[in-house]
Amino acid sequence: MHSFGYRANALVTFGVTILAVMCAMASISDNLNIPSPTAHVQVMNVNWFQKQPNGNDEVSLTMNVSADLQSMFTWNTKQVFVFLTAEYETPQNSLNQVSLWDAIIPSKERAKFWIHTTNKYRLTDQGSNLRGKEFNLTLHWHVMPKTGKMFADKIVMTGYQLPENYR
Ligand SMILES: *[C@@H]1O[C@H](CO)[C@@H](O)[C@H](O)[C@H]1NC(C)=O
Ligand SMILES: *[C@@H]1O[C@H](CO)[C@@H](O)[C@H](O)[C@H]1NC(C)=O
Repeated sequence: MHSFGYRANALVTFGVTILAVMCAMASISDNLNIPSPTAHVQVMNVNWFQKQPNGNDEVSLTMNVSADLQSMFTWNTKQVFVFLTAEYETPQNSLNQVSLWDAIIPSKERAKFWIHTTNKYRLTDQGSNLRGKEFNLTLHWHVMPKTGKMFADKIVMTGYQLPENYR
């Protein structure tokens, strides 16, 4: 009996040790995963571009947003929140950031996509600064893990410009 109890105990200890090592390795492997996402946004059309009665410029764009975020997904990833912003400078503000579109990516299978969409949120300026304005489109993401810390990063896409005239 004594010897059986001793062996069972040794077995449990061994099992717990293996488990601890596996958890540590899993956690390290998650931290070692360096994602290499890609994103591309094409402005397909300027649907309209106007000065609102209150004097603020507003533009409606149709875009093709494509991205491959599959490398962000590990065993520990619950979901990824992505959002696209337009960023530009004006005399009043060195950075104007306007959110245009967002989505929740629930799984690796859904993390490689393209979507043909108009801006879901209004692209308005606090003034009339948008004619001929150069801007960047930035895809931001927040990786929400099952355990551990949230992780955020972004891809900046440069070289976009709005038309010189209202239409
Ligand atoms: C959107 O972009 C993706 C990737 O660049 C391309 O495969 C797809 O055909 C494009 N869709 C449209 C409607 O242009
Ligand atoms: C666009 O991004 C580039 C690189 O980050 C930056 O140098 C530039 O100032 C940005 N342009 C605008 C209009 O925000």
